[in-house]
Amino acid sequence: MIGVLSMMLMVVVHRKANCQDPLVTNISDLRSLLITLQTWEAQNADHPAQAGLRRVTTELESLLVSKSTSPPPPVAVPAASSSAAVEKGSLRALAVGGTQCFVSQSSEFWGEPVVWGPEHHTPDAAECCAACHAHALAAARGGLDAGPNSTTCNTWVYCGDPDRCGQHYRECWLKHQKEIPPPEARAAASGANGNSMWTSGVVYGSDGDWLKQYDGRTTLTLHFELGDVVVKLLPELAPASVRELRRMAALLALEGTGCDGCKLYRSEVNFLVQGVIRHPGAYVATPRRPNPPQKKMMQRGLACWAGGMGGPDWFVNLIDQSGFGDDHLCWGKIDDMALLDAIVKLPTKPKAKPNEMTFLAKELRFNMTLS
Ligand SMILES: *[C@@H]1O[C@H](CO)[C@@H](O)[C@H](O)[C@H]1NC(C)=O
Ligand SMILES: *[C@@H]1O[C@H](CO)[C@@H](O)[C@H](O)[C@H]1NC(C)=O
Ligand SMILES: *[C@@H]1O[C@H](CO)[C@@H](O)[C@H](O)[C@H]1NC(C)=O
Repeated sequence: MIGVLSMMLMVVVHRKANCQDPLVTNISDLRSLLITLQTWEAQNADHPAQAGLRRVTTELESLLVSKSTSPPPPVAVPAASSSAAVEKGSLRALAVGGTQCFVSQSSEFWGEPVVWGPEHHTPDAAECCAACHAHALAAARGGLDAGPNSTTCNTWVYCGDPDRCGQHYRECWLKHQKEIPPPEARAAASGANGNSMWTSGVVYGSDGDWLKQYDGRTTLTLHFELGDVVVKLLPELAPASVRELRRMAALLALEGTGCDGCKLYRSEVNFLVQGVIRHPGAYVATPRRPNPPQKKMMQRGLACWAGGMGGPDWFVNLIDQSGFGDDHLCWGKIDDMALLDAIVKLPTKPKAKPNEMTFLAKELRFNMTLS
């Protein structure tokens, strides 16, 4: 037995030495070999040779156990991320995909149950929310008891605290409320008491339903490290662009994160400051035409999509200038230009030719909120 293992050891050492694997320094005794084999076994679970590897590992393991009083050390496995972090990541992934879960912690929302929790378990709240959405989609396809006429899930209730939930742990209730309250009021109106072991949320039928609350909002504030820039949105000039910008700001507010790809990168004295607005799940570009006629005079402070396109690259115009005609689609107006005037004075990258674009030496990131 030991002879066979020594031969294997030599083969292993030879192979690994050729690969310059740092593990080779560890294969100096059988215990280290066992750890190495166990690691490979864990890493190659799908490999056809895994069964053979498993047999050798098991034999070596039992041999070492029989020769020793202390058990072999446990295999080092990568630490699993905490379940709360996984759940948060899943909820974000759903939001990026367009399914907002509108989570209310410590709340048990009321509603007519359409799927009962004791027979319906999910690993976390995100999957319960996704299940609610899937239930509604099944009806839309003509499934469930009455196809599109079925009573479908628009409210989910989940129990994820193993200590408090007891027999209800991981129950995922799918419920139907006749009318879902608007997002701000949903917790108060739906049975939240702040102390429940349950987590609840709602699923709106379409983006439009939950975005309604943002319809009237026209103040988009861009938050830079250097300070804020307040943009008054102009739906009368660019209705679709304003709709997408509102949706993006709402998404960022729900996720509680900053904007991943919002930045300024170009500055031209007496002309413009230019940047891009982009974030996973929000793509603000819209068709350039048709749109209402644009202003004849390109005013100082207008925020428009760059290059005669429909986004996501944009600029702020720094001086009143005529002659652009209908070239640019403008969606906002900045009255207080103090910060942009300061930004245009910041250091820029050296240029090879004078007529090249001028790029900021350091790109300036920003986040946004809508009010
Ligand atoms: C060698 O093994 C020890 C303990 O088993 C481990 O802490 C160390 O990271 C290993 N070294 C390499 C290079 O794999
Ligand atoms: C849904 O309801 C409408 C109106 O009551 C009815 O005409 C239709 O046949 C129903 N569809 C199904 C699939 O039951
Ligand atoms: C944007 O928000 C994120 C997350 O809250 C934060 O880490 C980042 O510093 C913010 N960036 C700016 C420019 O405010």
